[in-house]
Amino acid sequence: MKTTFLNVLIAISALPARVLAKPGVDQAIAQLESSNSKLLQYPTQFTQGIMPKAIHSHNDYWRDVPLLTALSFGVASVEADVWLINGTLFVGHETGALTEDRTFDSLYVQPLLQILHMQNPKDGFTANDTGVNGVFDTSGGTPLQLLVDIKTDGVEALPFILKALQPLRAAGYLTTFANETLTQSAVTVVGTGNSPLEQVKALSPRDYFFDAPLTQLTDPSLNTTWDPTLSPLASTDYETAVGWSGIGNVTDEQVANITQFVGDAHGRGIAARFWDTPAWPIYARDNVWRALLENGADWLNADDLAAASSF
Ligand SMILES: *[C@@H]1O[C@H](CO)[C@@H](O)[C@H](O)[C@H]1NC(C)=O
Ligand SMILES: *[C@@H]1O[C@H](CO)[C@@H](O)[C@H](O)[C@H]1NC(C)=O
Ligand SMILES: *[C@@H]1O[C@H](CO)[C@@H](O)[C@H](O)[C@H]1NC(C)=O
Ligand SMILES: *[C@@H]1O[C@H](CO)[C@@H](O)[C@H](O)[C@H]1NC(C)=O
Ligand SMILES: *[C@@H]1O[C@H](CO)[C@@H](O)[C@H](O)[C@H]1NC(C)=O
Ligand SMILES: *[C@@H]1O[C@H](CO)[C@@H](O)[C@H](O)[C@H]1NC(C)=O
Repeated sequence: MKTTFLNVLIAISALPARVLAKPGVDQAIAQLESSNSKLLQYPTQFTQGIMPKAIHSHNDYWRDVPLLTALSFGVASVEADVWLINGTLFVGHETGALTEDRTFDSLYVQPLLQILHMQNPKDGFTANDTGVNGVFDTSGGTPLQLLVDIKTDGVEALPFILKALQPLRAAGYLTTFANETLTQSAVTVVGTGNSPLEQVKALSPRDYFFDAPLTQLTDPSLNTTWDPTLSPLASTDYETAVGWSGIGNVTDEQVANITQFVGDAHGRGIAARFWDTPAWPIYARDNVWRALLENGADWLNADDLAAASSF
């Protein structure tokens, strides 16, 4: 007899009452779990049940398993430091941490491609779908933000990065600004570090965006109109922009700096991120995270993903 929900319920309800040391529903769950029933095989289960959170995985490639550890915590933004050396894009914090195997393609592009293929099955049910599911099964419309921190010359590296992104682009997985329209997709790539502003501005269509300088959005000398078609994200070094250690009381001036910079970004439809926030003592780190979130910062910049995801 096939194991169906109904069969299990009938079998359980037929048991004599005195055998039920536990509620019948628990027995039905245990039987169904051990049954390998197709009814229990959730099709897009890679990130099943994981809720996305506005956390940025700082130096994501440091973790035992880059990208996947972040996804397991629901982290919706990751950062790869990228070095162009002899025509290949390597990922690591400094040159001593580079190896032949750890490339932008192997650590980020190929895993993302595989995950997104799993999240976007092609069958009779999806034949008419026009949108793309993101990496998070609970929230298909939430894009993953991929920060590319260029460590070598940005003008030289950019064409290689655009080429490396081609498999994701070809599958329609990249957020793109084209024909005056910003179309969000599964992955939003944002250049930081040495990413070259003028070259990014010139991209048309554009699927590589620019991490804007959060404290300089109103600075006319940068000759740039900051908006989400160029910069969905603006960031600053927390230490120089705010500086509160998280110990003792925050000053009015420090709070005013947070709200001013956040306001500059939000007024332009741009998300605000403060990096280099204190990591220790833990209570000071948490105080700073709280002050940033309460005053409108959009991303928590985190090294300890477990702590940030349960914050
Ligand atoms: C890059 O190429 C040069 C010249 O062929 C070689 O000496 C060097 O070892 C290469 N670097 C790496 C990381 O492969
Ligand atoms: C897709 O569209 C076709 C034509 O309108 C329709 O016959 C079919 O039922 C649709 N499939 C789904 C899964 O909605
Ligand atoms: C932009 O518009 C042109 C002309 O209508 C069209 O050929 C092209 O595919 C569009 N590009 C995108 C990325 O939508
Ligand atoms: C802005 O434009 C002025 C005048 O063209 C130029 O001198 C200056 O270097 C530009 N600034 C930047 C940051 O490109
Ligand atoms: C507020 O920001 C300005 C501009 O970045 C900076 O000069 C000033 O020191 C900041 N104030 C504090 C209290 O950090
Ligand atoms: C911090 O703020 C609280 C509440 O406003 C106040 O009672 C306390 O004296 C302040 N502490 C310091 C060191 O200024």
